[in-house]
Amino acid sequence: MISSRVKSLKPSPTIALSAKLRELREQGVDVVGFGAGEPDLDTPDFIKSACMRALKEGKTKYPPAGGIPELREAIANLMEKEKGVSYSPQEIVVTVGAKLAIFLILQALIDDGDEVLLPSPYWVTYEEQIKLCGGIPIFVPTRTEKGFELKADEVIKRITNRTKLIIINSPTNPTGAVFSMEEIRKIAEVCVKKNIYILSDECYDELIFDEVPYQSVASLGSEIREITFTVNSFSKTFSMTGWRVGWVACREDLAKVIASLNSQYVSNTPTFVQYGALEALRNPAGREFIEKAREMYRERREVITEGLQSLPDVKVFRPQATFFIFPDFSRYVEAFGSDVKFSEALLEKALVGAVPGSAFGAEGHLRMSFALSRENIEKGIERLLTFLKDLR
Ligand SMILES: Cc1ncc(COP(=O)(O)O)c(C=O)c1O
Repeated sequence: MISSRVKSLKPSPTIALSAKLRELREQGVDVVGFGAGEPDLDTPDFIKSACMRALKEGKTKYPPAGGIPELREAIANLMEKEKGVSYSPQEIVVTVGAKLAIFLILQALIDDGDEVLLPSPYWVTYEEQIKLCGGIPIFVPTRTEKGFELKADEVIKRITNRTKLIIINSPTNPTGAVFSMEEIRKIAEVCVKKNIYILSDECYDELIFDEVPYQSVASLGSEIREITFTVNSFSKTFSMTGWRVGWVACREDLAKVIASLNSQYVSNTPTFVQYGALEALRNPAGREFIEKAREMYRERREVITEGLQSLPDVKVFRPQATFFIFPDFSRYVEAFGSDVKFSEALLEKALVGAVPGSAFGAEGHLRMSFALSRENIEKGIERLLTFLKDLR
């Protein structure tokens, strides 16, 4: 018998949709897929070459559980220079993607019945991982009309004596919103007072388009740094989703616990992969790549936002970051009974793939990635328009 914890586990809907789109494409069907949660650019060659060099040099054995020392140091440098918060290499743990970093943090902190505050809409994985660790997600709603703004009051009023952790994901997947630093500071100060940890998932911090105030949560003050786990990843920043490399930065005693959990789960992040990641940080071409990618997503953000805003009765928040947009189709979804049914019909009738918002805790929306070509975005919007017109 499967354990009761795992029985209720939902598979990742984004990965499921990607598989479905791939299958249709292989059958020669001309689908427009807004489902992918990853960049459409390939990993830059200089990163691939460094990884191949490492393989040729025999970097093929178990490294330390926390990561190769050079990479931990390079990440500590990055945290200091780019993100304004100083960590020693011993305070960095390299993980098999940010996804594992988050799971290890939850494993390290959560006892059965502990509550985790989770602003909603949220990235699908948080809810499932919290539950797998015996925790209870406590959702803090944010809304399209209000620009998905996170209000400190809304967070604070949900704190109980079981609250162990808050997950802050700004910029946010799926909405593309960047939370107000003022509100985050208020939340973080309360967390310090009440002994609540902060997990700050900053995986999209290099993909901010607008001049909005932004800084790494741990850089807000030394007491805040002490209770914060900063999570980040090479996946989105350097188009390295398949490499599986991310990290967590936190206080040294906590980093030791995370590294030791890592050693029991996966031993380590693959050695040669870490050398590729190291090159991404060391080589100035890494920064150039980020600038180029950001510019490209910024242009596409305009195309998709304008396109969606031109659709009748669809509420659209213009994302400030990431490569996701999270339009509200509630007006149409009602007739289908659920956004899952709506997105199935959209795929079947209009050959447009998008992930239902309910997977992110926001029924009635669709999450659409704009990590696809301008032509495909425009084609997808045209098909959406026809689909919606036929419904009216
Ligand atoms: C908010 C957020 N955090 C973490 C991740 C996981 O990243 P990684 O590929 O490093 O596991 C994703 C990937 O979709 C994400 O959107």
